[in-house]
Amino acid sequence: MPAISLRTEVPGPNSRAILARRDAAMPPGAARLTPIAIARAHGATMTDVDGNTFLDFAGGIGMLAVGHTPANVVAALHAQTDELLHMCAIVASHESSILLAERLNALAPGPAPKRTALMNSGAEALETAVHISRSYTRRQGIVVFEGSYHGRTNLTLAMTSKFNLFKKGFGPFAPEVYRLPFPNLYRRPAGMSEEAYVDWHIAQLEHGFVAFVDPTHVAACVIEPVQGEGGFVTAPARWMQRLRQLCDQHGMLLVADEVQCGMGRTGKLWAIEHAGVVPDLVTTAKSLGAGLPISAIIGRADVMEAPHPGGLGGTYSGSPLACVAALAALDTITQPAFLARAAAIGERTRGRLVALQAHFPKLIGDVRGLGPMLAIELVKDPVTREPWMEATQQVNAATLQRGLITIRAGLYSNCVRFLPPLTLTDAEVDEAMDVLDASVAEVATKLGVA
Ligand SMILES: Cc1ncc(COP(=O)(O)O)c(C=O)c1O
Repeated sequence: MPAISLRTEVPGPNSRAILARRDAAMPPGAARLTPIAIARAHGATMTDVDGNTFLDFAGGIGMLAVGHTPANVVAALHAQTDELLHMCAIVASHESSILLAERLNALAPGPAPKRTALMNSGAEALETAVHISRSYTRRQGIVVFEGSYHGRTNLTLAMTSKFNLFKKGFGPFAPEVYRLPFPNLYRRPAGMSEEAYVDWHIAQLEHGFVAFVDPTHVAACVIEPVQGEGGFVTAPARWMQRLRQLCDQHGMLLVADEVQCGMGRTGKLWAIEHAGVVPDLVTTAKSLGAGLPISAIIGRADVMEAPHPGGLGGTYSGSPLACVAALAALDTITQPAFLARAAAIGERTRGRLVALQAHFPKLIGDVRGLGPMLAIELVKDPVTREPWMEATQQVNAATLQRGLITIRAGLYSNCVRFLPPLTLTDAEVDEAMDVLDASVAEVATKLGVA
């Protein structure tokens, strides 16, 4: 039986009524990518207020590695709600937050002893990672990369790359943030080999520490091992390894922002594992909470212990509800069978996307990503690689009409990214890819590139 079931037009009348109220009650700046209102969601499906059931390949923007309302998370939450809803960790401790810190310390990359600080959102984790890095190194500079996304607070907006969508009109931004180029293999100069391009980028990295900032001024280099908002661009392993060497050579810390790409999203627990690099700090959020707001900074004990007592924390940090949800989510995500299944979903999906590209080579310029963290990049011309944002919007609208939720990504907003629950069955992968095939065919025909 198909997972998708549409009973009304999309959006249906009940969704339209709720969306009209949203538009009257909330500012348009609070973006919305679809016009549907959801009543309930389980596994990889979401049912809207009109009774339409969709396959969810947005996953709350990568929030749902373990799927919607997984039984063990829901049971843990039910049990916790009767006992204790809130305990500000500044006032007193609750064992669930300590258990979670112990688990994350054991799971974080690298053999050095670790400590974990718990926060509420990805942006807050990144801000805190910067505070900790500055406190430890007694330096101010933060190096970030072209295409990166780190959040919407003032400091994390300073660290975020894409200007028009995220930063326009909101400055001035926090100082002492230096941006260096990030290798995007798809956009390398025509005729240049991957090897030569990575060599060139390694030289650019070294040049950046002369041209933009001196490494002795830098507290931390903050990197997404696979860029999320940036369009699922994977940092080449050799380039990451050189970055690690430069950090070691000059006393800079390496912070891996795994808010989107971590927690099994690439088929390994941490995306940076693919590059064989150990960061000093790693930030995680999204799928860690299985739907509850929680984030963490996990890092070398000596680094994490630098801030003075009382320097870190917040009213909600380490909320008992979020911690029990995260512990249950980790029970699932850390199972080798779960990660193997995530990798298998990635292979199956990639096979379909590559086949789709072969059918529509004039429209789909690139298929990329790591494991099941996959995206397609839409272009007006495969030779010039001119981005095609309108085609991307049309594909996302066409998938929605057929009951599949997909969302955009990329500096040029011209990628369709797939962040499904990693609990998908093969039948659900195939159903979603059938919908994508039909949607791309419709758009390619309409735009004259079929
Ligand atoms: C890599 C990365 N870092 C940080 C953030 C910010 O997380 P949050 O929206 O929870 O503040 C995001 C959110 O998409 C992200 O993808």
